[in-house]
Parts: sequence; C-alpha cells; structure tokens
Amino acid sequence: MKVLGISVSARRFGNTELLVKEALMGAWERGAEINFIRLTDYRIDPCEGCINCVIKHSECIFSDRDDAMKIYRLISEHDALVLGSPTYILGVPGILKMLLDRGMAYMYGIGRPNSGKPAVAIGVAGVKDWEAFTLPQMAVFLLSLGFRIVDQFIAYGQGPGEVLFDEDVIKRAHQAGRLIVEGEGAVYEKVCPSCGQNMFRFVDKDTVECAVCGSKGRFEVVDGEIKINWFYIERRWEDREVIEHFEGKILPSVPRFLKNRHRIKELRKKYLEKI
Ligand SMILES: Cc1cc2nc3c(=O)[nH]c(=O)nc-3n(C[C@H](O)[C@H](O)[C@H](O)COP(=O)(O)O)c2cc1C
Repeated sequence: MKVLGISVSARRFGNTELLVKEALMGAWERGAEINFIRLTDYRIDPCEGCINCVIKHSECIFSDRDDAMKIYRLISEHDALVLGSPTYILGVPGILKMLLDRGMAYMYGIGRPNSGKPAVAIGVAGVKDWEAFTLPQMAVFLLSLGFRIVDQFIAYGQGPGEVLFDEDVIKRAHQAGRLIVEGEGAVYEKVCPSCGQNMFRFVDKDTVECAVCGSKGRFEVVDGEIKINWFYIERRWEDREVIEHFEGKILPSVPRFLKNRHRIKELRKKYLEKI
C-alpha cells in the first residue's frame, strides 16, 4: 500500500508537517510505502471557471501552467492520504481551497480515481475554539474526491514544533497512520450520520442542516442536552450523487447558457460602458 502525506503548512518541520510524518511512520510500521510533500512547495493557480474539465471530461486545460494536476496525479497514484493543515483565520490556508477548486477533473471530469480510498485529516490550531472551519473544510476536500475519512482530529500548538509536547496527540497521529493501512475507521466521534462532520446551520427555527453534506435534522434541547433527530440523510459525496450532480445540474447549464448568451451580452452592455 502506498500512502501519501500532504502538509498544507509552509513552515518546514512545523506542527502540521511533524504530525503528518508521525502518521506516515505509523503507516510505514504496518508495511506501507510512504511519501511526503509540502503543498506550498508547488505552484497552484486559481481556477479559471471555464469548466472545460467537466464538459470535455479532461484534466484542467491549464495543466501545464502550474502544478495542480501534478498533485492530483500524485494523490491518485497512492492508495491512501494523510492530509495535514494548519488553521489560518479559523479555517484552512487558501492554497488548499485553490487546489480543491482545480479538482473537478478528479471529482467528475476524468472519473473518480480516489473513490473509497482511506484518508486521515489532521488539523492544527494555535488556540482552542479558533478552528471551527478547519476539519469541515478538510473533509470537503477529501469527501469530494471520494476518500473515506478513517480518522480526523485537531492538535493544538502555536510555535513550530510545540505539538511535540503533547504525547497523546503524537500517539493519535501514529495510530491514525496504522488505521489507514488496516482499513479500520470511525475512531473519531461522528456527529452527522452521513458524513461524520459537526458543523451545522439553522435553515429554520428548529431545523439544522449539515454544512458539509446537507443532511437535515430537527434540533431540540432535552434536559439541557442538544439532540438532533435526523429526518433527511443526504449522500452528497457518494460517487452516484456526485455524478448525478454534474450530469443533472452542471452539464445542462451549458446549452442553457449558450441559448441565452446573446441576451446576456445585451444586458451586460451597461456594465461595460459605465465602469
Ligand atoms: C496567518 C495565520 C493565521 C492563523 N490563524 C489562526 C486561527 O484562526 N486559529 C488558530 O487557532 N490558530 C491560528 N494560527 C496559528 C496556527 O494555526 C498555529 O501556529 C499552527 O501551529 C501552525 O501550524 P504549522 O506549525 O504546521 O505551520 C494562525 C497562524 C497564522 C500564521
């Protein structure tokens, strides 16, 4: 089994990198071949929004401009992924979102080569409760590509290397690396019954929706405890649903746009002329 570790931090030998490497060591002990990269060593340009990857069932047509497709190819050559990200302003650094936006080729365009592969998400934050978006954003990256999350957690450390003082978190990272090889999972406390994440928004006064997968539940407080009674389970990130999304929602928007484009051109004129 080949396991790839990706650190989203630019800090060489910083907290994220150390924890990703600890997880890789756990995987290596169980016989895996391991590789490691820092995302910030690569150039990732923003998505141009052309959706050629979806329409033409291809990789990004700008693949020779930067390294985004190179990274997706590397991910796809491996059997499992350890993704580590620091928290920057409550969530992941922009470079991971930039890579994600360039990933529609690997969500649908060329197929789903990572479907069903195990992954671990390790988030790092400096201050407790200042990291709400980190794991959900990492989950969106992994789930949208088809990965199955076998473990996820946040480690706390401010200065580079400070996580090393936390023996429990080092053990957890090491164990996560073993889990990925053994194929077991679900050691983390799952909240959403569909995707396992724990970020919700109210869609009316007593209904919450999972921000990551769209499952819905009634929210109530019973004896001071929060309860969510799930009444709608959404499988947004399963292969069939992802494919249906692209084929039912995205592809039909192309002929619709082409039909309307002359009218749009007319309506757009005033914005081009005035500013
Ligand atoms: C630009 C920037 C923004 C940050 N924002 C947050 C934050 O919102 N919440 C938090 O807990 N830590 C925040 N941190 C702290 C980092 O998450 C923390 O130092 C972490 O250990 C960095 O991991 P690294 O050593 O792998 O780079 C921020 C750090 C930087 C540089």
